[in-house]
Amino acid sequence: MELMKLITVTVSLFISVTVITADYVRPQPRKTLHFQLNPKPSFYPQQVHISLAGDESMRVTWVTDDDSSPSVVEYGTLPGRYSSVAQGESTSYNYLFYSSGKIHHTVIGPLEHDTVYFYRCGGQGPEFQLKTPPAQFPVTFAVVGDLGQTGWTKSTLNHIDQCKYDVHLLPGDLSYADYMQHRWDTFGELVQPLASAKPWMVTEGNHEQENIPLLKDGFESYNARWKMPFEESGSSSNLYYSFEVAGVHIIMLGSYTDYDEQSDQFSWLKADLSKVDRTKTPWLLVLFHVPWYNSNKAHKGEGDGMMAAMESLLYAASVDMVLAGHVHAYERSKRVNNGRPDPCGAVHITIGDGGNREGLAHGYINPQPEWSVFREASFGHGELKIVNSTHAFWSWHRNDDDEPVRSDQVWITSLVNSGCVSEKKNELRDILMAP
Ligand SMILES: [Fe+2]
Repeated sequence: MELMKLITVTVSLFISVTVITADYVRPQPRKTLHFQLNPKPSFYPQQVHISLAGDESMRVTWVTDDDSSPSVVEYGTLPGRYSSVAQGESTSYNYLFYSSGKIHHTVIGPLEHDTVYFYRCGGQGPEFQLKTPPAQFPVTFAVVGDLGQTGWTKSTLNHIDQCKYDVHLLPGDLSYADYMQHRWDTFGELVQPLASAKPWMVTEGNHEQENIPLLKDGFESYNARWKMPFEESGSSSNLYYSFEVAGVHIIMLGSYTDYDEQSDQFSWLKADLSKVDRTKTPWLLVLFHVPWYNSNKAHKGEGDGMMAAMESLLYAASVDMVLAGHVHAYERSKRVNNGRPDPCGAVHITIGDGGNREGLAHGYINPQPEWSVFREASFGHGELKIVNSTHAFWSWHRNDDDEPVRSDQVWITSLVNSGCVSEKKNELRDILMAP
């Protein structure tokens, strides 16, 4: 057993070294949290998290050691009294010498909006509690990328827990497992208190890509554990999908899958944008991992290829905001397009400052570009409160010696309100109809 562990660590370290691309100094990271072994009965649901799965449904995901444990979820609006039951599916995977537990995915619903439900996984064990998002404005999102599982991660999660939010948005880099599969399990346990109560909607970052040439597909662990509503949104890949909540259409793109005009992702994006009805969802948000507007020296230019392929389409579609991670710092732009401030462009936010073990990215390019409004290398999280069809309040909360301090804030008015959507209607139609 010990020998196998040693071999796994050695292989993983070798692979990890080959994927390190950063050449900047990231001071004062906090150590990875120490997770005590806490043996549980084999049927016991672990790593419970929920995600939106269509307008009135929620996907419940959990892991059991017991392979015979059923993928059922009992639920209802009163504690201990379950009026409904749903049957789901399960999967598992092997990775070198690691074998995952049984990973259950069960969709429950239809659910009422803005309602607390009590639920139990696998027919026994503890009761969990979730709250569904509202059907209408206002709706609030907690946003943070590049979480990892360090002392800083814990600090960020504590701050998010204090915020009144409906849905958590995570633009990539979750566990920093980096080929060490047991870290996916510890990350699942770390986030369970939050992720079992409010939906976590995630997209993939580079740290989800655990590729071993000829042996392993890059996103096997991520796809098995963090199944998102890609089928529900007409996508053929868990690496990009969309969903709607209250009056907001949210598109989760993949920075690490093909994005050129001939790609499946691009075709799906056009099809998805053609379905957006701004009278029903006045706000349009897009998330992906690698930022397009980034004046930090870290990862400079890495998003250029995707930006060249997709920015004109997102501009024609009048995307209100783009939220990205990857760079371990915070930055907010003006409305921008094609490198220049533009009243019909998106506000770009980089928020890869969740608290992972690699630390912060301090080096900035000077002078600060005209499009860049605010930039700072600190850990923290964002909150986006969409108040109504025309106004939203964005704030960034720095982890200041473990206290959440609101350090940047701005009111954002929607592009529907500005007239950009109606102005570009024909331009968008022409792009979407092009072969
Ligand atoms: Fe990243």
